[in-house]
Amino acid sequence: MAVNMKGKSLISINDLTLEEIYEIFDVSKSLKQKLLTGEPHRLLEGKTLGMIFSKPSTRTRVSFETGIFQLGGIGMYFGPNDLQLKKSESVSDTAKVLSRYLSGIMIRTFDHQDVVDLAKYGSIPVINGLTDLLHPCQVLTDLFTILEKKRVLKGLKLAYIGDGNNMAHSLLNGCSKVGMDISIASPGGYKPLQEIVNNARANAKYMGSKVSITDDPVDAVKNADIIYTDVWASMGQEKESEKRKKIFKSFQVNSSLVKNAKADYLFMHCLPAHRGDEVTNEVADSANSVIFDEAENRLHVQKAIMALLM
Ligand code: CP
Ligand code: NVA
Repeated sequence: MAVNMKGKSLISINDLTLEEIYEIFDVSKSLKQKLLTGEPHRLLEGKTLGMIFSKPSTRTRVSFETGIFQLGGIGMYFGPNDLQLKKSESVSDTAKVLSRYLSGIMIRTFDHQDVVDLAKYGSIPVINGLTDLLHPCQVLTDLFTILEKKRVLKGLKLAYIGDGNNMAHSLLNGCSKVGMDISIASPGGYKPLQEIVNNARANAKYMGSKVSITDDPVDAVKNADIIYTDVWASMGQEKESEKRKKIFKSFQVNSSLVKNAKADYLFMHCLPAHRGDEVTNEVADSANSVIFDEAENRLHVQKAIMALLM
């Protein structure tokens, strides 16, 4: 492994250098190959990964738990009612105690600051498995999937249609870091955070790419190599679901919208998808859709992340 990332945490893609991002992709490719050919790759023999989930999960939970097992270690799942964390014990004390037992922590929760604090007070790598602010493991996987399909990243254009949420934020971080153009179309009041947009613009300037934020999905999708969308109401926003359906109605990714992209565009979605809302079946199940390759790659990319950090 060319780049030494041992002991680091992964909280935001923005904390990674371009070299570290490509190191993750190289190791992902090699681990994917080894799994396919049945070659042993027990790089984390005897290691333990604590997996803290304050929100539900299909992909993140199953891919991390399977991944650590395939690497020779063991994953321990902690659901919303399992730990004292934030109920009768502070984040800092929890971080210090878990650091005495485990080799790494993966956490999915609401408040991004809790993940930052877990890493700050603990002495083992912390991996962000989604917060209200960011979803870095998903976007590293998305970029790896795009690289597999398109052979390059720099110079491509990704259009994200929908809520300016954790996915939009991590896509802004990720695309701008690797020199992809990113265009985000969201309704007023649901734009990504200005601080994250500004930071992405600074990255993009350095890489010679573009960041644009618009109200117009057609404009965003024009000439896109990738069309990406996500749910209109994220975990924790279920009560706003009906209201958001009305607000986001014209931001659906459907066969009429995708006509504006390049003919060989990829359709991507982090999943779970609310079919009929943010995307139609016609698009999600089309030949351009790579949503299940994307889901599979969570396993390979997160194994690389664990192998490099832990
Ligand atoms: N994309 C993703 O993180 O899926 P889960 O919520 O099922 O983990
Ligand atoms: N924005 C979604 C992503 C799910 C993977 C959520 O936070 O619920």
